[in-house]
Amino acid sequence: MIDIDAYLESKRELVNRSLFQFLPVGAPSVLTAAMRYNLEAGGKRLRPVLTLATTEAIGAGNESVINIACAVEMVHTYSLIHDDLPAMDDSDLRRGVPTCHKVYGEAVAVLTGDAFLTLAFDIIARYGLIEGNADKAVKISAKLAEAAGTRGMIGGQVFDLLAEGKDLALDDVEKIASLKTGALLKAAVTCGAIAAGASKNQLKLLEEFAGSIGTAFQIIDDLLDYEGTCEEIGKPVGSDQARLKATYPALLGIEKARAKTEKLYHDALEALEKLDCPTELLAALAHKLVYRAN
Ligand code: IPE
Ligand code: IPE
Ligand code: MG
Ligand code: MG
Ligand code: MG
Repeated sequence: MIDIDAYLESKRELVNRSLFQFLPVGAPSVLTAAMRYNLEAGGKRLRPVLTLATTEAIGAGNESVINIACAVEMVHTYSLIHDDLPAMDDSDLRRGVPTCHKVYGEAVAVLTGDAFLTLAFDIIARYGLIEGNADKAVKISAKLAEAAGTRGMIGGQVFDLLAEGKDLALDDVEKIASLKTGALLKAAVTCGAIAAGASKNQLKLLEEFAGSIGTAFQIIDDLLDYEGTCEEIGKPVGSDQARLKATYPALLGIEKARAKTEKLYHDALEALEKLDCPTELLAALAHKLVYRAN
């Protein structure tokens, strides 16, 4: 039996230590300070842990995959900084502390997000300079760019903003969740799989697994906006309702939204069952992601 809490704790430590090593030297001090501020605020680090766990599941991991895991977390951190800006969700609290723009102002917050996004692809390029990694780096950056871009997270964020105050069909709500959040979570897994040299079939099944988990992850986030406490989730509660966001619980109610996450969780496990490598760790992580209180 895997002690998933101990696993999470040790990988989080590794990710945290590694992230700080990438802070820029020689950049304007306010920018470095703002980047450090966002990293110090913490966060669950679930995406980079998924990257590392996927590499371990495939069983052919290389040590430098921690850099890829950090790149994924940086894309995520950037997305949160921008998501909180007054022009988007206009949020004052993130990871239990005031949002980046509240502390450093909007202009520096925009640029801090930009800096994380740019650094992520810098890290992947440098990973590709390590002997034997070049081909993987090209594939990883293509996957991450697609997931973060217009056909992934950015597209989803635009749909999310356009949907405020509208009555959307269920399919559209699901599309928003899978694009704005599912895509990057999926990339966290596939980038780890590529780094480990996964086969085509393994990649396909891992994508199925992570796609389901990723959409479930956003629906849980939406449920926590209703049912969580500000202390637990480190961000304001009730803000989706205040902004009339098109979410699963808003459309279907809490019970049906919860049932949908359970269905997605089971879909994810089904994909894992077809994999030809040990999947206990990924299954345990999926459980953590879906049955979380923060
Ligand atoms: C929050 O993500 C935003 C979503 C995409 C749902 P997380 O819940 O992973 O946030 P942190 O990284 O732990 O702060
Ligand atoms: C976030 O969705 C999606 C991102 C790509 C950042 P939310 O707007 O629901 O995330 P929170 O609740 O602010 O963390
Ligand atoms: Mg948002
Ligand atoms: Mg938000
Ligand atoms: Mg939310």
